[in-house]
Amino acid sequence: MHLAQLHTPSQIQLNPKGQLKHFLTIEGLSKQTLTQILDTAQSFIDENGQLITSPLLEGKTVMNLFFENSTRTRTTFEAAAKRLSANVLNIDIARSSTSKGETLRDTLWNLQAMAADIFVVRHSSSGAAHFIAKDVCPNVAIINAGDGRHAHPTQAMLDMLTIRRETKKDFKDLSIAIIGDIKHSRVARSDIAALQTLGCTDVRVIAPNTLLPFGFEEFGVRLFNNMDEGIKDCDVIITLRIQNERIDSPALASQLEFHKMYGLTEERLKLAKPSCIVMHPGPMNRGVEIASSIADGAQSVILKQVTNGIAVRMAVLALSMQGQTA
Ligand code: CP
Repeated sequence: MHLAQLHTPSQIQLNPKGQLKHFLTIEGLSKQTLTQILDTAQSFIDENGQLITSPLLEGKTVMNLFFENSTRTRTTFEAAAKRLSANVLNIDIARSSTSKGETLRDTLWNLQAMAADIFVVRHSSSGAAHFIAKDVCPNVAIINAGDGRHAHPTQAMLDMLTIRRETKKDFKDLSIAIIGDIKHSRVARSDIAALQTLGCTDVRVIAPNTLLPFGFEEFGVRLFNNMDEGIKDCDVIITLRIQNERIDSPALASQLEFHKMYGLTEERLKLAKPSCIVMHPGPMNRGVEIASSIADGAQSVILKQVTNGIAVRMAVLALSMQGQTA
């Protein structure tokens, strides 16, 4: 049993032909669907590694609806939609009527009346994207850009694309460690589900018990409390920020203490394979979960993740529109 099988959601994200219609979570999607997203994303990158443009979404309107802050996800969705020739509207939630008590549903229905084809939604509540997808008009796609601590599926897919492009290996042949705040991380959940669906059998989680979620044993990954043991001979290391905005009571003695026990340093990185790549979804807290010299070092692919995010988001936007017409 692994994470993707444990929490299989309703198939609301697929159309009757099994094609992607909404993109809400990794769980419940097949290896074939995830591979299709990766292959489509790859098709938007030319042989020189440059992103291409395409008229695939000409005449379509993408609305970015971010109820939580974002640097990478919002901007790369905007860049992706523009590369596909879509119209893009970034809704300014801080100036919207949500501050006057308008519900999420009413906000959505009003924006839908302005001829949206795709909503890209980030919300602090887990399940917000599912809630909207159940209520939206036919032919309108919902893409989850991160909901609470639940899921961040496009981050997971850009991580998978980065792993595939940088290691050039099959997922089944890789040892991958995810380090840090698993409990509050939507990226960790989505990454674990995607890795397992794509066939990775050595997914390691390195964290103190205080940063592991309830029911963690059922995730089907290997747990290490000791970082040196956990990163030994790894091909890929994914470091995570401590999600302080989702922590009610202190889970750690101090950030310095965390860095000593679980921070990725040059000494520790030597324990992984020499070819090991270092990833981080951002935003980073330098000197806490990752040393600055590693973040900017030769093994870091952190900025490549950001660029790959545009290709993956182009793929998800394009596929979700294709899934509406079937
Ligand atoms: N990785 C990620 O979701 O970053 P942002 O919060 O900046 O979008």
